[in-house]
Amino acid sequence: MPKCIIDGREAEFTPGQNLIEVAKSAGIDIPLFCYHPGLSVVAQCRMCAVEIEKMPKLQTACSTMATEGMVVKTKSEKTKENQESVMEFLLANHPLDCPVCDKSGECDLQDNSYKHGSSYSRYTEERRTYLDLDMGPVIKKNMNRCIHCTRCIRFGNEIAGLREMVALKRGNNTEITTIDGRPLETDYAGNYSDICPTGSLTLKDFRFKKRAWFLTKVPTVCEGCSKGCNMEIQQDNDQIYRCVPRENLEINRHWLCDEGRFNFHYLEREDRLVDPARSKSSGIEICDWGTSIDTAKATLEGQKVAILLGSDLTQEEASSVLQFKAQHYADSPIFHFGTPGVVSSKDDGPEDRILKQKSKTSNLNGMEKLGIPGFERLPAEITAALVIRGGRAVLPPEIDGVEKVGIGVFMKDQAMMFSAILPGLSFAEKDGTILNYEGRAQKLKRAVQAPGQSKSLSEILMIWTNRKNSHGVA
Ligand code: SF4
Ligand code: SF4
Ligand code: FES
Repeated sequence: MPKCIIDGREAEFTPGQNLIEVAKSAGIDIPLFCYHPGLSVVAQCRMCAVEIEKMPKLQTACSTMATEGMVVKTKSEKTKENQESVMEFLLANHPLDCPVCDKSGECDLQDNSYKHGSSYSRYTEERRTYLDLDMGPVIKKNMNRCIHCTRCIRFGNEIAGLREMVALKRGNNTEITTIDGRPLETDYAGNYSDICPTGSLTLKDFRFKKRAWFLTKVPTVCEGCSKGCNMEIQQDNDQIYRCVPRENLEINRHWLCDEGRFNFHYLEREDRLVDPARSKSSGIEICDWGTSIDTAKATLEGQKVAILLGSDLTQEEASSVLQFKAQHYADSPIFHFGTPGVVSSKDDGPEDRILKQKSKTSNLNGMEKLGIPGFERLPAEITAALVIRGGRAVLPPEIDGVEKVGIGVFMKDQAMMFSAILPGLSFAEKDGTILNYEGRAQKLKRAVQAPGQSKSLSEILMIWTNRKNSHGVA
């Protein structure tokens, strides 16, 4: 591999790599604002300028490709002087409202100002201010904080496929805005907040709920569709505050769709059933595990039972159900379900040209690998169903006419459909393996404790197996 020298360190590179990436792989961080590895390079903030031997002027590291033998200095006097000047320029109009800014603690402007700026400014004029129009339900705009890096404009044009962010006017009057001040239209709006290096575009959903430094970050996978985008759940005290993308260049690159990003809210709904329950003509009755399992067993006893598995369950969960079936319901048919109109991976495919897949559950492929067929209709002889799901699989209306027992995540308005409900875990509350649409196995990681009395599927099936029925038989 070719090599160059950065700050006296030998760094290997692949031809075509820019100096920012080469330096990063050698453990050297070059400060930057406008460069983003998922967007085109515009080299307009000048923060990343470095000294290169035999070149009289500083060169921007984001737009300069490494070459064999190149000698680069990222911390020379000339470089530092430039970084200080860029910071002074960018902060000339900045309101410096970090204490009340949601980006505080994870803001490139704040970090670079601390590391590379000066505590002195020569700017005495009045700072410019903008009137911020509403950008729709996802993003809150505060253009007083904008440094015109144009990452948002490039994201709209190059990734979201919508030219919805533009730069109006020029010079000191430049304003980044949506066209005609319209709300954002993309289904990927949350990414604007991730890529903005300042607090100009923040998530409405997260604003003022938690300081970034209090959050525990758990690497996991989105359950929103069969794409399997890599994400990080950020939580504190077992409450999820937000989900952000984790880079995986082979799957989601740097992005998440809004559906996947905000999907976690259903876990926290007040009407989620988190205690074992049974339904009576008077309504739902919360009961103990024993009573609920007895009701479940009594419902299925003597019936022709079908087992329906949500394709939002993990491989480990589906395998434990197959073992349970062999032990208790060996003659029963088993099907997977999840998305209306998607019976098998033949029905799956891209929903758009960015990330989204048609299957709105994460493990359709895994169910097929285990040999479980997709649900189309109940066989005529079936009189009862054991329905097991994570929380996202959509219940098929074809099961309305039979007695049912539910295991997993259900809301109270769904509970009356079932004679008994045994509350289980959502994707954020368990570890496990899921296979995305390409068959790539990825790990879900538990980010929060499950609420109430919810239990893992293996534990529920074990209690079920070990509990004697009314005839004293397990
Ligand atoms: S709003 Fe943010 S991403 Fe857009 S130009 Fe301003 S600082 Fe850059
Ligand atoms: S494309 Fe699918 S997996 Fe990716 S973030 Fe959206 S819902 Fe989640
Ligand atoms: S990051 Fe290189 S010029 Fe902005």
